[in-house]
Amino acid sequence: MSTAVLERPQAHSASEAAINCRVSKIFYGKFLAVRDSDVLIEKGKITGFIGPSGCGKSTVLRSLNRMNDLIKGFRLEGEVDFLGQDIYAKGVDPVVVRRHIGMVFQQPNPFSMSIYDNVAFGLKLNRYKGDIEEKVEHALRRAALWDEVKDKLKASGLSLSGGQQQRLCIARAVATQPAVLLMDEPCSALDPIATRRVEELMLELKDDYTIALVTHNMQQARRVADVTAFFSVDISRGGRTGYLVEMGQTDQIFEDPHEQLTKEYIRGDFS
Ligand SMILES: Nc1ncnc2c1ncn2[C@@H]1O[C@H](COP(=O)(O)OP(=O)(O)O)[C@@H](O)[C@H]1O
Ligand SMILES: [Mg+2]
Repeated sequence: MSTAVLERPQAHSASEAAINCRVSKIFYGKFLAVRDSDVLIEKGKITGFIGPSGCGKSTVLRSLNRMNDLIKGFRLEGEVDFLGQDIYAKGVDPVVVRRHIGMVFQQPNPFSMSIYDNVAFGLKLNRYKGDIEEKVEHALRRAALWDEVKDKLKASGLSLSGGQQQRLCIARAVATQPAVLLMDEPCSALDPIATRRVEELMLELKDDYTIALVTHNMQQARRVADVTAFFSVDISRGGRTGYLVEMGQTDQIFEDPHEQLTKEYIRGDFS
């Protein structure tokens, strides 16, 4: 029903915000995993999420396309606006949300099917009526994988190297032309050369896509993120609740952070 609403950008979506996320609380069951994290994902930019393990980076990222809905006990207090609409509003179909806001995971996870079918998967799912072959080629080119696979499109996606598999997953994600790509530590299972390729790819994709990237690698955030959000964990009340400490241009966050916590984290982790 509300799928139509999401497909029609509203007048005030002309601002630079791709996603305007105002999280007041995120629970897993009774556990308060994240509090007070307002994150603005700007159009055409790469926003990096950094911070210590367990500070809620993945939780917030997954909230941006309702991927957390799949986790039992998940509950969000707040709003996540995409194209001027709260994606958590009643009646919004999470499947439609995920079509507009795609996701790439930490472990490359191609389906156990051919390279071609991996990329065509979302198109078929969405009953795409146009030329699927053309779309598959375009997506593979976009993911900088075409030249390596064009002669073996029928081979299994799982036969590729780790770095190629991750680029295949990126091709699968971009095939349906989402507006935003969420990437949760997409390079953490890759070697340094494959990591560089994926980083270069992210920089290329920025022309057409908005990207939100979780990374535990601060140098990676420095290399690719335009904007950086630093999260930390609050242990003062006996729990372990993550929250956004500060967010700003990447240079500012790394060279002139406003918050003492950010300074300490950046100094510590770079040594
Ligand atoms: N599926 C889940 N069920 C329950 N708790 C979770 C789940 N996923 C994450 N958590 C908890 O939420 C907090 C934030 O986790 P996460 O978002 O994965 O942090 P990060 O990505 O920064 O390492 C942690 O305390 C983690 O244990
Ligand atoms: Mg994580």
